[in-house]
Amino acid sequence: MTTGAFFNTYVTNGKEWNSKMIKAAVLGFGTVGSGVVELFDINRKSVRRRVPEGVEVKYILDLREFPDSPYADRVVHDFNIILDDPEIRVMCETMGGKEPAFTFTKKALERGISVCTSNKELVAAHGPELLRIAKENNCSYLFEASVGGGIPIIRPMNTSLAPEYITRIIGILNGTTNYMMTRMEQEDISFEDVLKQAQDRGYAERNPEADIEGHDACRKIAILSSLMCGKTVRYEDIPCEGISRISMLDVAYARSMGRAIKLLGISERDWQTGTFYVRTAPYMVPASHPLHGVEDVFNAVFVHGNLVDNLMFYGRGAGKFPTASAVVSDMLDCALNIGENIPIRWSDEKMELSDPALNSSRFFVRIPASEKEKASRLFRGYEEVSLASAPADEAAFTTGSMKESSFEDCARQLSEVRKVIRLLED
Ligand SMILES: NC(=O)c1ccc[n+]([C@@H]2O[C@H](COP(=O)([O-])OP(=O)(O)OC[C@H]3O[C@@H](n4cnc5c(N)ncnc54)[C@H](OP(=O)(O)O)[C@@H]3O)[C@@H](O)[C@H]2O)c1
Repeated sequence: MTTGAFFNTYVTNGKEWNSKMIKAAVLGFGTVGSGVVELFDINRKSVRRRVPEGVEVKYILDLREFPDSPYADRVVHDFNIILDDPEIRVMCETMGGKEPAFTFTKKALERGISVCTSNKELVAAHGPELLRIAKENNCSYLFEASVGGGIPIIRPMNTSLAPEYITRIIGILNGTTNYMMTRMEQEDISFEDVLKQAQDRGYAERNPEADIEGHDACRKIAILSSLMCGKTVRYEDIPCEGISRISMLDVAYARSMGRAIKLLGISERDWQTGTFYVRTAPYMVPASHPLHGVEDVFNAVFVHGNLVDNLMFYGRGAGKFPTASAVVSDMLDCALNIGENIPIRWSDEKMELSDPALNSSRFFVRIPASEKEKASRLFRGYEEVSLASAPADEAAFTTGSMKESSFEDCARQLSEVRKVIRLLED
């Protein structure tokens, strides 16, 4: 047995104990949840620097038993054991999905237990309601790990950037699709082959729809957009397109223009006119933009504030310990604020988004070669893009900046449009 400097701390059989230790529970002992439990042991000293009393994970709730785990004695299967233990002051929900995560979170908050989560599905669907319940019960609901995994972005948005008028957020928010686009770009492999590779490496789910159709990135830009305006941006209201229609030919065209295709979540607010556009879609990103160099499973969030100018937050958007690190940092904040609410400005008032047809973009377009003359007359800023490997019957061009609605009007006058991808400006 060894003793520590704080509050008569004892370490017995590797387990730390002192009378003032803050007791926590972990819901879901999977990838992230097991990382949270292990992190408290691995980084015990740095946890102590932040919370001198220390934090002990008293319970782990899961469906399964973990007989070979050193934490087997903490595993429980009945949520009421956690709820009815008055010692529990902090909980992390790393089960995922909406139910029973929502019910458990709500019940814990109603008992004054602070909850920290990596569950973006739940945060995007019920964030403001859970924040309100937390406030009413003098506890906190924190969700740093729900966007960008280990990248600190929620806390900076909520605190460091509070005095700013944030006008633009552009995020590479899904590691799976960024990995896929990087491999297509660098190794010339087809979408189908790269998806299989991502699944074999454990980056993509067996059912990859949420990633490749953009739903995951859409939920995350909905959360960031809500924090940007303090109201609720519903992800169902955001135009959402994934990468499933991106071909090797599109990637080759982008490369010939010095660009790379990335799935982006974009949120743009004009604070004077009140317009607010949000979109999830693949974009051709120029080499001069900081997001161009974000490769493989990495995520990044580019933020523009009216005073601070451009910022970029970059790091691992997923993975056991990067994500657990963000969850634990929230748990430590809650441990330091027992009996108090850590405010996050996000009300359940619905934010009306502007009509996306009125937003302006530049576009990359592929058409049959026979339509070239007509297209050059129709589209403002028409500029041909040539590619040696392109099919002989095809032409491609970029447009100048034009409203989505004007673009649609022009495109309707062509006999066929094979592909349209937006261009991100510098
Ligand atoms: N993995 C990442 O890198 C990452 C990154 C950022 C955010 N997230 C988010 O974090 C959350 C957790 O992800 P994960 O990858 O850790 O998932 P996971 O590995 O599937 O872990 C979830 C755990 O919760 C358990 N569980 C499910 N339903 C339960 C219930 N009703 N009661 C008790 N336990 C239950 C599961 O048990 P069974 O296995 O028996 O079902 C599993 O052990 C998700 O919302 C995910 O989107 C994950």
